[in-house]
This record gives sequence, C-alpha cells and structure tokens, in this order.
Amino acid sequence: KRSPVVLGIESSCDETGAGLVQDGKLLGHSVASSMDEHARFGGVVPEIAARAHVHAAAPVVHAALADAGLTMSDIDAVAVTTGPGLSGALQVGVAAAKGFAYSLGVPLYGVHHLAGHVAADTLEHGPLPNPCMVLIVSGGHTSLLLVRDLARDPIVHLGDTLDDAAGECFDKVARVFGLPYPGGPAVDRAAREGDPRAVAFPRPLTGPRDDRYAFSFSGLKTAAARWAEQHRAAGLPLPVADGAASLQEAIADVLTRKAVAACKEHGVGTLVVVGGVAANSRVRALAEERCAKAGITLRVPPLRLCTDNGAMIAAVGDLLVRAGAEPAPLDVSIDPSAPL
Ligand code: KG4
Ligand code: ZN
Repeated sequence: KRSPVVLGIESSCDETGAGLVQDGKLLGHSVASSMDEHARFGGVVPEIAARAHVHAAAPVVHAALADAGLTMSDIDAVAVTTGPGLSGALQVGVAAAKGFAYSLGVPLYGVHHLAGHVAADTLEHGPLPNPCMVLIVSGGHTSLLLVRDLARDPIVHLGDTLDDAAGECFDKVARVFGLPYPGGPAVDRAAREGDPRAVAFPRPLTGPRDDRYAFSFSGLKTAAARWAEQHRAAGLPLPVADGAASLQEAIADVLTRKAVAACKEHGVGTLVVVGGVAANSRVRALAEERCAKAGITLRVPPLRLCTDNGAMIAAVGDLLVRAGAEPAPLDVSIDPSAPL
C-alpha cells in the first residue's frame, strides 16, 4: 500500500496556500497572496485578507493538485493551520479544510502555524535532527524555539519579541526611509550600496542583565525614525543606503547572536532559520559565519518555503499521520492566539 498523501491548507495571514506531501516529499503546491490589496494600507487588513481567502481557497487546492499531477481522490488526509493568526483568515482555511475532509471521508489534522514554518525545511533538506534550535523571523513572529520532536513533543518556546517582529521593523523603517512595501526586500536591496557601520543603531536586549532569548525591535524602529528625522530637520538628504545597511546589520547581529547563544547553552548542534526575514542576505551571511565558527550546522529552507505556504502545513500533517497522531474532530475550532 502506498504512503498517505496529505493536503495542507494555510490561511493565517495574507497568503492562501495549499500543498501536497507524501512521506516527507513535496508533491506539489500553490500559493495565492492578497499582499497587493494591502499595500496601500501599509500592512495586512484582516477583513480584506479573510475575503481573499474565500476566493482563493478552492482554486489553490486545485492548482496544488494540478502541480502534483493528482486528483481529489488521491488525498488521504487534510491538515490545516488552526492558529496562531488572524481569526477571520484562519476561519476560512479551517472551514475549507473541514469541507474537503468531510466530503472525501479522510481525517483532519489541526496544525500550529509555527510548527509549519519549522517543518518547511524538511521538504528541502530531509528530516530534522532531534533536538534542533529554530529561529523564526517574519512579519508576524520573532521567536527562538527548541524543537525536540515535531510530531510528538510540544515545541519549547525559549523567547519571543516583546514588541514588534523583526520583519515589522524592516517594513516600518522602510516606510520612514521612503522605500516601497514590503520593506524587508527593499531594505536588503538598498543596503547593498550602503555602509553597515555608518550609523550606530542600538542592539536591543543584548546587555548582560537582559533576557537572553527575548527580542525587542520597537526601540530600533524609533532610533531609525529619529535618525531620518534629524536629517530632514537639518535639511540634509537622507543617506538611505547607509541607513538601510546599518539597520539590517543591527537586526542581523541581534538575531544571529541570540540564536547561536541559545544553541550553545542547550547543547544543540543544528540551527534552522525560517520565516520571511530568513531571506535577508545579511541575516543569512552572518548566521553562516557565526554557526561555522561555533561548529553549528545551519539549515535555511529555500525562499519559496520560507514565506507562508500550504506545503509546510502538509509537511506537519504528514509527520502527524506517520506518528499515528489523533485526528482533529470536524468541529475543531480556530485558535488565533494559540500558545506554543
Ligand atoms: O513569513 P512571511 O512571508 O510572512 C509572515 O509574516 O508570516 O514574512 C514576511 C516578512 C515581511 O516583513 C518582509 O518584509 C520580510 O519578511 N522579508 C524580508 C526580506 N524578504 C522578506 N526582510 C528582510 N530582508 C528580506 N530580504
Ligand atoms: Zn508565518
């Protein structure tokens, strides 16, 4: 008998994703994004995101099946993000998943969004070693997670951001610098021409008495805004490239310093960096440099698997199915502020 094919559905924010995974292998996937509809508001508008999921849910599942060369009857289980995320957005994905599971007569599995981000890397680089350290950095999250066994043990949440996520800091400062949305990639591009030592931006929460695993980016955002304001007040042109390079250096420094320290303190030999900010060239370079120095294996999934997608949710579903986990009831609720 062939191994089960798992359909994964993701709708926690502005991406509607569907993916198909069998035995840890990605068979096909598709993502639709409402990002363009949010651009003029400078951030994700929950109501717009939820409506976009209603339109995209069934088409992305069909597109994922077409990508995999499969049909609906090949699906053996359905996995869906139940949280954390925007409640209206999550509702749409969960409702769609229940519909598919019920009509196909296959089990339904609820998946934690962050577990999905972690599992994304297994689709490219194979099973994760147990344990491993995960730095998840996106527009919505900045956390350090200790993963013992993704299918069996709850993820240990070592630290989180106390205010803004790292991606949010990139996006908001980009706006102040007059760069386009989403700001992360724009800062990354602008930084290429800049000097990372031009501006001494703060390294929040890296002092000896600070929480080793907590992050804070709102102070950095304020410092960057103040720096821009000082130029404007003095009638000077804003050296955007230098500001972007210096901001990126500060963020990359804090993220990688804490992640490597967490690996050392927990005796963990593998660091996985996931989420949209893992695409940042300086975050990648500094993580490589510091991991190599500390003898830590660094794993970073390819960009298409770093941002929100359905394949990563299918990857967790596949692990749950193979571990013999209990399926979710058809009346399973969303859990927008799901704890880890
Ligand atoms: O994982 P993701 O697609 O969505 C969630 O937030 O869950 O991450 C999006 C975030 C945005 O804040 C975006 O600006 C940031 O990732 N990002 C980057 C880069 N590419 C995307 N930040 C810095 N440098 C990049 N190259
Ligand atoms: Zn995400």
